[in-house]
Amino acid sequence: MTFDKKHRPKTLSDVIFASTDVQQTLEDYANNNRDKHLLLYGPKGTGKSVSAELIMRERLNLIWQAGLAEPFNAKAYAEQHDSFGTLLSQWNWQLSAGAHAGCSIIDEIDQFTLPMQHKLRAFMDQYELGVVIATTNNLHLVDGPLKDRFRPVCVEYPSVQQWVPRVVAVMAAEGIPITPSQALLLLNGFDGSGRSLNDWIEDYVLRLQSVVHKLINPLASGVTSLPALTINCATEGK
Ligand SMILES: Nc1ncnc2c1ncn2[C@@H]1O[C@H](COP(=O)(O)OP(=O)(O)O)[C@@H](O)[C@H]1O
Ligand SMILES: [Mg+2]
Repeated sequence: MTFDKKHRPKTLSDVIFASTDVQQTLEDYANNNRDKHLLLYGPKGTGKSVSAELIMRERLNLIWQAGLAEPFNAKAYAEQHDSFGTLLSQWNWQLSAGAHAGCSIIDEIDQFTLPMQHKLRAFMDQYELGVVIATTNNLHLVDGPLKDRFRPVCVEYPSVQQWVPRVVAVMAAEGIPITPSQALLLLNGFDGSGRSLNDWIEDYVLRLQSVVHKLINPLASGVTSLPALTINCATEGK
């Protein structure tokens, strides 16, 4: 399993948001307190797709199961379908399993051609059985009237300071407990997306594991105590 997959956020509270308003709005969606279609937009790697999945999962709660809740990617969807009957049937399956409303994800909605965007708008106007959660990195490619059907929410990159709890949590899950100030040191020079944060942390985990490995090997040949392991990222030269 890749590092990214292993540490994919498991609940919405694992996702770091730059804005507390955005966090609150998405929690409202997860708690079924909002029913307007939701459009998450912003740069790549801000957690839009993973948030959409977690909102859907939390909305469907006990009835969530893979077959009832597959997210759709717009490009892949359009290669197989020229209408939105598949979305309607996903909602119907969810409703028959006991959901209070249907819920579907369309990732990268901007990848729909304009005619397909028009069809989606007509579909959303015709059926009110469920909520569409859409994501895009390219808001300008979403047709204005379609955009109007959604509550648009801008998801931006968290600051380095805001990433700290995420770094602490991932390192702890790797069996490397660190303090928030050590996490901040480890983030020295980091200026990127959530996806590249995973790569950044993985580099450190591998480096620390190799240091520990080198320390443990002499132990086998009679060394009985380990020197304290300090994380000094400033000297790591990352
Ligand atoms: N805000 C975030 N908080 C926690 N993890 C994140 C965040 N953003 C991205 N990630 C990590 O990066 C991966 C890819 O994020 P993704 O949701 O696909 O980004 P987007 O759809 O905005 O391009 C996620 O699985 C997660 O591990
Ligand atoms: Mg995405």
